[in-house]
Amino acid sequence: MGIRKLSLLVCSWIVICGICANATERQNNADYHARRAALAKQMEGGTLILFAPTEAEGPNNLYGFRQDDDFFYLTGWFEPGAALLIHSNPYVEILFLAEHNVTQEKWTGPKLGPEDPQAPQKTGFDKVESLDKIHSELLKLLPQPRAVVYSDLGANGQTTPSTGPLEWLRRGNSFPNYVSFRDAKTLIARLRMVKDAGELHMITSATEASEFAHRAALKSIHPGVSEREISALMQYEFGKRGCERPAYAPIVGSGFYSTVLHYSADSGVMQDGDIVVMDVAGEYSMYATDITRTAPVNGRFTARQREIYNIVLAAQEAAMQAFQAGKSKLATSRTDADSLYKVAFDYINTHGKDLHGEPLGKYFIHGLGHHVGLNVHDANDPALPLEKGMVFTLEPGIYIPEEKLGVRIEDMFAVGQDGKLVMLTHDLPRTADEVEKAMAK
Ligand code: GLY
Ligand code: MN
Ligand code: MN
Repeated sequence: MGIRKLSLLVCSWIVICGICANATERQNNADYHARRAALAKQMEGGTLILFAPTEAEGPNNLYGFRQDDDFFYLTGWFEPGAALLIHSNPYVEILFLAEHNVTQEKWTGPKLGPEDPQAPQKTGFDKVESLDKIHSELLKLLPQPRAVVYSDLGANGQTTPSTGPLEWLRRGNSFPNYVSFRDAKTLIARLRMVKDAGELHMITSATEASEFAHRAALKSIHPGVSEREISALMQYEFGKRGCERPAYAPIVGSGFYSTVLHYSADSGVMQDGDIVVMDVAGEYSMYATDITRTAPVNGRFTARQREIYNIVLAAQEAAMQAFQAGKSKLATSRTDADSLYKVAFDYINTHGKDLHGEPLGKYFIHGLGHHVGLNVHDANDPALPLEKGMVFTLEPGIYIPEEKLGVRIEDMFAVGQDGKLVMLTHDLPRTADEVEKAMAK
């Protein structure tokens, strides 16, 4: 199934390291190297210095350390406490690794150290050095004056794993007044928007595992079942198929809570006659997917629930029909003719009414979609249109609290090499009839 979907998207199939279905996968070293080389071309003589989070900085309370998205994108390196240097002209790349800490490795397991002669081969870097050497390597590489250093500088004064270690450069102790800093985030975001074959494989794996979760949920929803049970079931189903964690806080909201966008308490018991929104999906080998289905708790939509459901579905279809590679945008604009949001909003606002005879547009309270990749709301440059290799959601919704009636239908899409839209979630029940049928099985 995965290969069938992917064959629509990529011309050639690439080998993924770690073929075992349930192990964390990593792409070939050459893929990460190609991204570093592509970034170097964009930096026009500049130098990138990027730090991975330390064990303490990474979001590790529940699921353990997770690498920073940009750092992983450029290195394929899962471990904390490393640094990356790319000097664009002449091209130099160095991965800096921490020296062994025997005490810490008793807690976190054995680590690759910079002294390992195999380190370049294992990591795919031209050069691997000790983190202690980062200052001396920079002194060798940075032109003086007028060095341009790219990094993750943190928007609006925020700190990032790179801002602390870069203070010595910022203060000018080593390069007085000669270093100008630029934020690397936008350059990396533009690269991350177009997924390569290996990334499409990870996203497809996340999607297929999460589709199993949604199908299992549809079969298990009944009056009296708790939202938490459905959330737990879904996490089990995608975890069993190799996902290391949820791609975002799972939302299973029934009745009034079907209308609450970021409801993640999942603490209610589902009632006969209510509707339930399930926005739940897993992350597979660092890559997210994002899927929502809406179902009637007792297995049959009421006439009103079905009416609203069909408007949401038709709004999504309208956006799909309007899609043009190289032109369409996800921007939440009601005036830009290229905005797919406008297409979906206009459909919703001209079909159906609320209990007061008012149009339904005001109940579509979020954007139509977003890029998906290493992050569920993936890095992007919103000014750029949707192009070949991009992956995103289309997720219209109508939320009417007065009627305890929320409907969201969220599917995953990719733009194929032929410029056509490919629905990655096409195996999942989607129409009202298909949802009812899947629940009856
Ligand atoms: N699950 C997050 C979103 O739909 O954007
Ligand atoms: Mn989404
Ligand atoms: Mn979602």
